[in-house]
Amino acid sequence: AFVGETVMTVLGASGDLAKKKTLPALFTLYRQGHLPDDIHIVGYARTKMTDEEFKQRAIQYIKAPKGFSEDEFKKEIEKFQSILSYVHGPYDEDSGYQALEKRLVEIETKRPGGTRRNRLFYMALPPSVFTVVAAGLRKNNYSTEGGNRIIVEKPFGKDLESCREMMSALKAEWAENETYRIDHYLGKEMVKNLLVLRFGNVVLDQTLNKNSVSNVQITFKEPFGTEGRGGYFDEFGIIRDVCQNHLLQTLSVLCMERPVSFAAEDIRDEKVKVLRCIPPIKKEDVLLGQYVAANGHPGYLDDDTVPKGSNCPTFAALTLFINNPRWEGVPFIMKAGKAVNEGKVEIRVQFKDVTSGIFTDIARDELVLRIQPDEAVYMKLNNKLPGLVTKAVPTELDMTYKNRFSDVEIPQAYEALILDAFKGDASNFVRDDELDVAWKIFTPILHWIDNDKPKPEPYPYGARGPADSAAFSERYGYKRDDAGTYQWPVTNVA
Ligand code: BG6
Repeated sequence: AFVGETVMTVLGASGDLAKKKTLPALFTLYRQGHLPDDIHIVGYARTKMTDEEFKQRAIQYIKAPKGFSEDEFKKEIEKFQSILSYVHGPYDEDSGYQALEKRLVEIETKRPGGTRRNRLFYMALPPSVFTVVAAGLRKNNYSTEGGNRIIVEKPFGKDLESCREMMSALKAEWAENETYRIDHYLGKEMVKNLLVLRFGNVVLDQTLNKNSVSNVQITFKEPFGTEGRGGYFDEFGIIRDVCQNHLLQTLSVLCMERPVSFAAEDIRDEKVKVLRCIPPIKKEDVLLGQYVAANGHPGYLDDDTVPKGSNCPTFAALTLFINNPRWEGVPFIMKAGKAVNEGKVEIRVQFKDVTSGIFTDIARDELVLRIQPDEAVYMKLNNKLPGLVTKAVPTELDMTYKNRFSDVEIPQAYEALILDAFKGDASNFVRDDELDVAWKIFTPILHWIDNDKPKPEPYPYGARGPADSAAFSERYGYKRDDAGTYQWPVTNVA
């Protein structure tokens, strides 16, 4: 494990991911003292820029921390800028990596004390240059006096075959234990909480199985469309963009058996095991949608960067099954949509009906894990309506983070994951065999969509999704049996 005596290089430093996610996360980690004092961050990209220009660009998306005065914030920014520098160069020629090497050595030689030269490379890059950069770094910038790690992020190919190609090209250069594949959903607080919630509570451990659960919904909703990234998006579609990775990773942690320990390989072994029990998704278990113009917002096809008449889905509902003793027969309904009515990501476990007899019309219990916004765990339970008659109403046991942990600042996913990579904890990164099974589940359905181009059902920008979305969930047993009258009191959030 290494934390100190490290130089981190951010490749693609002038791009969006670096500016919006990586550098702000590094700022917070540095400010909070999680990174060692001798840390240095080098930006690398093709854009010609001076160190000063990069320092300005790097802070564009950094916001003042809660409770900081303008002056205090400025001081923190200046401190952060003092650990930044920049090198520009091509991705496909050794000369660029040699210039980078010169800079790394300069920094390392100036560093007081320590003799180790640990290097962490973060690839905030488009997939077209992943492998060439990985090779360039391995050849020119591999430290022999310390550890080396490389962080990569999706898209990891477009299907099983292209993913395997990409992974074997990467593997030819970097060992598995040096490679950190980010799926930023694994860094989200509520996803990390799953392990504790499930295995630290007998009541949940005992009920999360086919005997008690009717169906599970994992929902991803975004209130905005693909404006500005239509060109990128059209090549992938919503299933590759969020379902095959973010939602499937979430599902695997939700459904895996108890790992032997918290160690990275123990956790990842269990995730792979449960994923291997999921057969490829069938086309009859899929509903696709695409948003059209409404309420003054443009439709997906109105974006100039989107090919005319594209059938690319911006909404998908898919049902998966897990053929193992715990989950056999329980439908896992995954729904993901862009340009829908709200922004929300949650897991909703719906329990079976109470055995009929004394109750005739009673709501089902539900366990809801709200991943974002406003992290919360709540359990929808029936309760007697207080008063002189016996009437059951759905209520909730509610653990809303902002109320329960009001003083705690919840880390951003990228903060958690980058720190893990510094420390060498791979538990929340995707192992190569996980990626392989994930693609096996999705590849047939993706090929069907790519080749047959089924027409997605249109839905107006800002709608809940295509009209058939509700009926889709009901087909798999989901019941809105309180007639939709129950509302989780989100307004209680402080
Ligand atoms: C990215 C997708 O991986 O995840 C985006 O490419 C999506 O389309 C994003 O918006 C969602 O991440 P988050 O953290 O905002 O939920």
